Amino acid sequence: MIPRQIIDEIIFRNDIEQVIGSYVTLKRAGSNLNGLCPFHNEKTPSFTVFPATKSFYCFGCGAGGDVVSFIMREENLDYVGALELLAARAGITIPTDERPGERDTVPRKRIYEMNLAAARFFRECLWDETYGRDALRYLTEERRLSRSTINHFGIGYSPNHFWLLTNHLHKLGFTDEELVVGFLSGKSQKTGKPYDYFRNRVIFPIIDTSGNVVAFGGRVMDDSKPKYLNTSDTPAFKKSRHLFALNFARRQAEERMILCEGYMDVIALHAAGFENAVATLGTAITSEQARIFAKYTKQVVICYDSDQAGQTAANKAMRLLESVGVDVRVLKLEGAKDPDEYIKKFGADGFRRVLDQSMTGFDFRLGNILSNYNLSLPDELIKASSAVCAMIADAPSEVERDICIRKAAAQMQVSPDAMRADVDRTRRLKLREMKKKQSQDARASLKNLGDRVNVDSAKYIRANRAEETLLGLMLIYDEFRREAADGSAGIDGGDFVTEFGRRVFETLCQLEQTDVGFSKAMLGQYFGVDELSRIEKIEMERRNLARNDREVFLAAIRDIREEKRKGTEAQDPFADLRRKREANQTKKENKNT
Ligand code: CTP
Ligand code: MN
Repeated sequence: MIPRQIIDEIIFRNDIEQVIGSYVTLKRAGSNLNGLCPFHNEKTPSFTVFPATKSFYCFGCGAGGDVVSFIMREENLDYVGALELLAARAGITIPTDERPGERDTVPRKRIYEMNLAAARFFRECLWDETYGRDALRYLTEERRLSRSTINHFGIGYSPNHFWLLTNHLHKLGFTDEELVVGFLSGKSQKTGKPYDYFRNRVIFPIIDTSGNVVAFGGRVMDDSKPKYLNTSDTPAFKKSRHLFALNFARRQAEERMILCEGYMDVIALHAAGFENAVATLGTAITSEQARIFAKYTKQVVICYDSDQAGQTAANKAMRLLESVGVDVRVLKLEGAKDPDEYIKKFGADGFRRVLDQSMTGFDFRLGNILSNYNLSLPDELIKASSAVCAMIADAPSEVERDICIRKAAAQMQVSPDAMRADVDRTRRLKLREMKKKQSQDARASLKNLGDRVNVDSAKYIRANRAEETLLGLMLIYDEFRREAADGSAGIDGGDFVTEFGRRVFETLCQLEQTDVGFSKAMLGQYFGVDELSRIEKIEMERRNLARNDREVFLAAIRDIREEKRKGTEAQDPFADLRRKREANQTKKENKNT
């Protein structure tokens, strides 16, 4: 683990105002700063930075925490990754672990080093006369890639052997564990010995925006299965957070990016001059990847395979990308199955022409709906029209709806006025339903229903309230935390009713009792971003209350223990009897003395 002093230094040298300010436009509002929340869609700012407490909180979506958890959320990093990023930003070097064995996984740096060595090895094999001849022929002749494109992407080849790479990396000092954790070697079930994972495949290295080789994709050169082998998630790699070729594409991304399905599509596009193309890594696009697009560009053109699967996937991708606020277009290729084939057939100019004619999300959806109906039958026309109206009713702006209505009405040959009336009606209905749902949600949240961070809070409302009071006080005031941790306050984790409350309490106590003492910045090691947000909220709400003295502290402890007792008794049908008997007993004893 990173030592406490280093963590403090990292936090100290990364002013929260400046760090968040480099992602969000902040305006001063009194002693705090406001801006539009980067974690949910909003039009009025509810995202607040509190320089005094070095924290942030969004009153809209409840995201909150310190500068480290901001980076965890914003950059999709884990705790250590976020600290590393902030350290690099401030020019602090984190000492590599002096005490091996403390970390249970291989450090990310080590995996990068190993991947780089492997990428070099694969490249050398590709250009090697004996090993790489067939692979090079496959790439240059069958796939028609130029040598410079092959070099640009660092494409390589893994020979058809079981121990070539494994032996090579062993010689460079990498251990069996590192090879297996980094997914370059599998482990033989029989002998327990590592063997090369990629064999007889052309290899595409996946490189992140800092230039690290984070993973590999390996394609067979014939029709055998599986077509691709990919690095699974490792301590240095989550495929849901990376995009293939983003390392190049980000430089050309400002106006527009192209999203395709395959590595080969991206490579063909870059070779044809479209260096703003990227692909997901063999999975459907995730919300994390959608946010990456939102960070780099204004417009995304989805260019998936032209088959049904590709179009269905395009529909899903469109939704996700729209939800992060980028302008989404869809390109439907005619006469070729994917961008790679399209460029081979129609050239870069052909692709550029269709690229500029890409459909808006509306046109794409309209086309999809209309293709399901036979519009020459009145029955079907009516059904199609109501489906189209429902779709248009979702558009937020009046002008947008108007444009859509006119377009759709023209295509369906119905009266735009009639359609407008239908859209308005659908819209009113939807609004009413939304309001109903909102008030349900509001009621549910008052009762803590659906609380996923603290699942017990709805069931134990009073207990939860008392627990949050105590935890808030422990977060703000050193003396309360100390008393709770050393036992002198007379409460321990076992007194807590909610599981989340108990975990927070025990973590605070545990940190308090380390040699270096408690620091809020260390909570990221134990809690996820949603949990950290909740902890921030608990502290902030407590801070905003007028009374936070010892009486409140003691009352909270009393209430927690009382609620715990009630909870235990509820499971004990004879508790009442027993209590009476105990009370009588003490009365007797009192009499006797
Ligand atoms: N993919 C995968 N595993 C498979 C098949 C596909 O991980 N068995 C992923 C790869 O990332 C691939 C993408 O899905 O790039 C798209 O698949 P496909 O269109 O079949 O592959 P292409 O890269 O386009 O390859 P090619 O054009 O050579 O068939
Ligand atoms: Mn393909």
